[in-house]
Amino acid sequence: KILIVDFGSQYSQLIARRIREMEVYCEIVHHSQVLKQISEEKDFITGVILSGGPESVYEENSPAVEKELFFAGLPVLGICYGMQLIAHLNGGSVERAETKEFGKASLEILDEKNPLFKNVKQNSQIWMSHGDHITKLPEGFREIARTSSCSAAIMNDNNIYALQFHPEVSHSIFGKEILENFIFNICKCEKNWIIKSFIEEETEKIKQIVKDDKVILGLSGGVDSSVAAVLINNAIGKQLTCIFVDTGLLRKDEAKKVLEYYKEHFDLDIKFVDAKNRFFEKLKGADEPEQKRKIIGHEFIEIFNEETYKLKGAKFLAQGTIYPDVIESQSIKGPSHTIKSHHNVGGLPEDLAFELLEPLKELFKDEVRKVGAELGLPHFVVNRHPFPGPGLGIRVIGEVTEEKVKILQEADNIFIEELIAKDYYGKVSQAFVALLPVKSVGVMGDQRTYEYTAVIRSVNTTDFMTATWSKLPYEFLENISNKIINKVNGINRVVYDISSKPPATIEWE
Ligand code: XMP
Repeated sequence: KILIVDFGSQYSQLIARRIREMEVYCEIVHHSQVLKQISEEKDFITGVILSGGPESVYEENSPAVEKELFFAGLPVLGICYGMQLIAHLNGGSVERAETKEFGKASLEILDEKNPLFKNVKQNSQIWMSHGDHITKLPEGFREIARTSSCSAAIMNDNNIYALQFHPEVSHSIFGKEILENFIFNICKCEKNWIIKSFIEEETEKIKQIVKDDKVILGLSGGVDSSVAAVLINNAIGKQLTCIFVDTGLLRKDEAKKVLEYYKEHFDLDIKFVDAKNRFFEKLKGADEPEQKRKIIGHEFIEIFNEETYKLKGAKFLAQGTIYPDVIESQSIKGPSHTIKSHHNVGGLPEDLAFELLEPLKELFKDEVRKVGAELGLPHFVVNRHPFPGPGLGIRVIGEVTEEKVKILQEADNIFIEELIAKDYYGKVSQAFVALLPVKSVGVMGDQRTYEYTAVIRSVNTTDFMTATWSKLPYEFLENISNKIINKVNGINRVVYDISSKPPATIEWE
């Protein structure tokens, strides 16, 4: 496997995705843990990639790796900050450039025979994004490619390679080939990261870990918890009990659909908890987003705890935690592995009485979807847009009432069904309706109306950290607006949200 050392780059996850796409297994590690991991897993690690990062290598306390890494005999690829670190640690010089270089550049290859350049065209476009540059190469290193403004766009010594640009982003036209060459020609990795074998291995692991004990899982109907439930159910069957809490803040008919579907197709043992009234009661009078989130999160945990207590005797709590959740919780500041409060549970109690079972914690979202598809989960589950834990509680803006949730459910359902019918659902990353507490005057027939405003929100994104609003056709939007206003009592005005993230967020609260 390949280790990717994270120095805080927004692209670290992208590097990992690219490598997994090559069917090679990789992990992101904290910089202080690399040598330890290499010594512990000597026979399995075939190469190391040093990611980019926002800091400068010459600053005090900037993140680094120990120099011994370069003597471990493993191929190393440094990208941007990773390159500068290689230079800095090996006696080269790194300085702040007079102007930051950001954007496209053309790569002139100086050593065409180098295995890194197989199938890479001369003068192809690459993507630069750096403020520091190398002013003196470390001893033993050679410049093997450059750009017009940057000598040593790539430097090399034996099996240590360093790139000033970002091969992992799609703007670097031959970036994929460069990474592939490093992985296959230089690290000599084999393609062995395959979804089918993941399922077989993980099923076996679950059986071994759980033995005869019982497992509880909070099923939300979202992709992650659904895939985890089916995977575990395949492994241990009736030893698994799923708890489904109907918060009253789910999409229209969602609770019913989820229950029927999983019972019928996967024979899952689901305990349904109707907690609508408890949530609406607790939310009375609360109109501030963080306050609402807290109320919903706490109530959820309380109900979940009550139910697990009733089920007695379970040893494991299973969760649909996925790799990005794990990376987020690891945080660049410290290597300790804190358990992230699962986004759908909203925070685990500290005195957790269970052992955690997280079979998806090494997978990226697209891999979870592939596992789901392989396990026979239907397209509409596997390709679902994300849905926030607090649900419609944060999409009814301001105070939440049962009546407002009903209005929102109807409007949202119209929008989503139209997106599916017109084949846009899979082309946008997340779409929903939010209900504003703003009433405005309208006219219907000869009647004056005074009703709520609905916001249509649809965004495109790969990582949900940044997003752009979807450029849906006017006719489509017009049709949605007409349908919502005509069919949903309580809404007489529809607006389209054209804010990107940042500075807006995807959700309104
Ligand atoms: P924002 O609104 O921060 O959302 O741009 C980014 C993504 O996260 C989802 N989201 C949540 N998911 N619990 C969740 O499980 C939450 O409390 C929560 N808040 C936001 C949001 O839907 C989007 O996909």
